[in-house]
Amino acid sequence: MDVLTTTAHSSSYLMQLEDRFNAHNYHPLPVVLTRGEGVHVWDVEGKKYFDFLSAYSAVNQGHCHPRIISALIEQAQQLTLTSRAFYNDKLGQFAQFITEYFGYDRVLPMNTGVEAVETAVKLCRKWAYKVKGVPDGQAKIIFVEGNFHGRTLTAVSASTDPDCRQDFAPYLPGLITIPYDNIEALETALQDPTVAGFLVEPIQGEAGVFVPSDDYLPKAYALCKKHNVLFIADEVQTGIARTGKLLACDHHGFKPDVLILGKAISGGVVPVSAVLSSDEVMLTLKPGEHGSTFGGNPLSCAVATAALQVVADENLAENAEYLGKIFRQRMARLIEKRPDLLTLVRGKGLLNAVVINDSEDSQTAWNICLALAKNGLLAKPTHGNIIRFAPPLVMTEAQLDECCQIIEGVFGVFGQS
Ligand SMILES: Cc1ncc(COP(=O)(O)O)c(C=O)c1O
Repeated sequence: MDVLTTTAHSSSYLMQLEDRFNAHNYHPLPVVLTRGEGVHVWDVEGKKYFDFLSAYSAVNQGHCHPRIISALIEQAQQLTLTSRAFYNDKLGQFAQFITEYFGYDRVLPMNTGVEAVETAVKLCRKWAYKVKGVPDGQAKIIFVEGNFHGRTLTAVSASTDPDCRQDFAPYLPGLITIPYDNIEALETALQDPTVAGFLVEPIQGEAGVFVPSDDYLPKAYALCKKHNVLFIADEVQTGIARTGKLLACDHHGFKPDVLILGKAISGGVVPVSAVLSSDEVMLTLKPGEHGSTFGGNPLSCAVATAALQVVADENLAENAEYLGKIFRQRMARLIEKRPDLLTLVRGKGLLNAVVINDSEDSQTAWNICLALAKNGLLAKPTHGNIIRFAPPLVMTEAQLDECCQIIEGVFGVFGQS
């Protein structure tokens, strides 16, 4: 049976297929995409859109970047997977490249973001027992309210979002939750000598692009040092140039003890994630104590190396910083014109969100996103009344201007006819 045909099917037929045969664990915008190039994607009817989600910041380098796709094809014709039962000729070179790129001793490669989060949690517990001297079984890790670290049971246990958590109990013990952007709460929680780690997103992406106070992260890092606790940064969404620096923590001039990366490490081409840390932390893990069949496979290594080289060679961090400022200025002017509809814009680099002046359970943000799609720009509400705007970082200033005009046009007339 010819299942994935090249026959052209209509959007409505393809949406019906998903609806009928797929689990209903997502609520996508009614757009069926078939092709992508740079900042653009096309639907099956041939309509062209600006992508303002970038697959939740996985496609920072733009869709189907030619250098990354070349690396993919070249490596796919050579060797894709060996498992870690044997050495392969790409992993060592990739490990050297990525550790030098981010300035760490060692890397542990995985596949998805949440697997890297799990890995960091295991590493932290191991370090607690083997290095810090926490009594067996008592290690604790601090998380913050409003976090998003993925969908495994550890991430769900750490979550404070009812949609993520509810009906998935029992939860993992050993997790403490404190308010975000509250240094006093952290200081209090750190009094417990069994605390081994503080795991935090430098900017909360899924929660709606919450940027903490300027001094929160450096103060939190200093407190972690004082109490011999690992500062673990989940930069799965904020990393790889998205916020205008290679890492969001780079805005504050410190290096997390444990760095969690995913998404854009591969430019959205294959699932690659990584945990980076010191010899002291990483070498607590011994053979057989952690792993993944696909983690560190030669295909991922080749793709991720090319994808990270693109970020550096094309100055994507600088571009994100520059365009982000223009974007927020344009949105701020728009808010002045439509205070009835818009409350504020916030973000860093090209990770931004606008807050809609309506309740969390209103349909306004969703309807705005439908109108934006109709006008050729794809964005998605996060948490009901917030719309995240995160285009690929290869966008030009002229393209951003065109996008701002679309957004201004839609917001300008929304709800007024
Ligand atoms: C900060 C953060 N951590 C972890 C994840 C999970 O990544 P993945 O969906 O690749 O498992 C996400 C995904 O959005 C994220 O934003």
